[in-house]
Amino acid sequence: MKTRKEEMNKFNEIISLCKRRGFVYPSSEIYDGFTAVYDYGPYGVLLSNNIKELWWREMTRANDNIVGLDSAIFMNPKIWEASGHVKGFSDPLTECKKCHARLRQDTLLEDVGVFADEKMSEQEINELFIKNSEKIKCPICGSQDFTEGKKFNLLVQSNLGNFTGDWQKDPAYLRGETCQGIYVNYKNVLDSSRVKIPFGIAQIGKAFRNEITARQFIFRTREFEQMEMQYFIKPGDDEKVFEEWKEKRYNFYLSLGFDEKNLKWHKHENLVFYAKAAYDIEYNFPFGFKEMEGIHARGNYDLSQHAKFSGKKLDYLDPQTNEKYIPHVVETSCGVGRIFLACMSEAYCEEEISDEEKRVVLKFPKKLSPIKIAVFPLLKNKENLVSKAKDVYNSLKMHWQCEFDDNGNIGKRYRRQDEIGTPYCLTIDFDSLENDDVTIRDRDNMKQERIKISDLKKYFSEKFFIK
Ligand code: GAP
Repeated sequence: MKTRKEEMNKFNEIISLCKRRGFVYPSSEIYDGFTAVYDYGPYGVLLSNNIKELWWREMTRANDNIVGLDSAIFMNPKIWEASGHVKGFSDPLTECKKCHARLRQDTLLEDVGVFADEKMSEQEINELFIKNSEKIKCPICGSQDFTEGKKFNLLVQSNLGNFTGDWQKDPAYLRGETCQGIYVNYKNVLDSSRVKIPFGIAQIGKAFRNEITARQFIFRTREFEQMEMQYFIKPGDDEKVFEEWKEKRYNFYLSLGFDEKNLKWHKHENLVFYAKAAYDIEYNFPFGFKEMEGIHARGNYDLSQHAKFSGKKLDYLDPQTNEKYIPHVVETSCGVGRIFLACMSEAYCEEEISDEEKRVVLKFPKKLSPIKIAVFPLLKNKENLVSKAKDVYNSLKMHWQCEFDDNGNIGKRYRRQDEIGTPYCLTIDFDSLENDDVTIRDRDNMKQERIKISDLKKYFSEKFFIK
């Protein structure tokens, strides 16, 4: 078992690999960055697309009654009043009196082993903070002198469509969660498709939160991508459906190859008044077990609020029983960035391959690997090898994500592909010119085999088949 220090070293290695190999860059780096925002580079975007595609497949293809949606980031501001975000979506903020760092009271408390309940009032959190003040230190300068805490609203505001010059009075918000777009389109989907209760609407999209403390790399960012699914059900079915989704979502992470020892359930004990149950799937990140996905039984709270605030009827008429009701909702909600970080953490290995040589390898399951196949000519300056390798590369690249690499010796090229998790490297050598075959080298066991070029498509179709 690794110590926390070893885990943090591994975390720093992952962050450095992400930058070095084009997975994740700090935003606006040439302008000294922009806190809590990150950009995904060439391999990062491929990994993130694979995660999204697997989630989408699991939701909308595995379940005939789940349909997709892509709602806009901007919505009528009333939606955020109805959802409770304008009044209640806040974190407790304090300021270090010495270095003026703005910090979250609950995170500072967490650092000394005290866990504040997110539903605590401003006053209750302040009292807890004062009670533990002997132990709490500013993580930047070490001071123990803080201002009184204030609840700080996390919604990000904008002046979209407002030309009065005083837009802060009446701002448009960048959505704080994607699911509100699902609730307000529930009736549209119902009226325009053939879904009947129970059914789900799945959506992947950006969300924005004015997070006070941004720590832990892409774990908590101010702009991030969510994958949310709202499952609309008959009142009374909540418990059964909730359990079904808990199981399905846990299995999703197993299907991504996650080790079960790195997954854990966290049950929310203090629920908001409308919620019937809430569980998180936590992942053992290098900085400890933290939330990766939330599964929530939300009753009919959201639809009822939107019916009330919009004045529109949002109830459902059961075609069989003629019963009318506002459906209840079970929600599954996860962040692409957090799953991305968990996948990197799960895949990252350092291996001794000989007395002198070590390799860093990302042992992604094949379906997650950004590049599936790398194609190498043995030598860069032999025209016949390069041209045959290009032919092989061109014949595969529209079927699987491939990369052509003729730079450096073969050993170096293997190390480069190991570092980005490419499962197979093909080399075209002098025998290939005679025999029309290639060497295929397996990332994990580093064994090599020879395969006829004419058999490559069949070979990889089997290797990359997703069950
Ligand atoms: N609709 C419910 C909802 O948004 P949440 O627990 O606030 O619930 C759901 O967020 C998921 O979104 C989290 O489990 C996490 O994976 C992701 N997430 C939330 N805030 C995030 C942030 N600041 N940065 C990255 N991911 C975040």
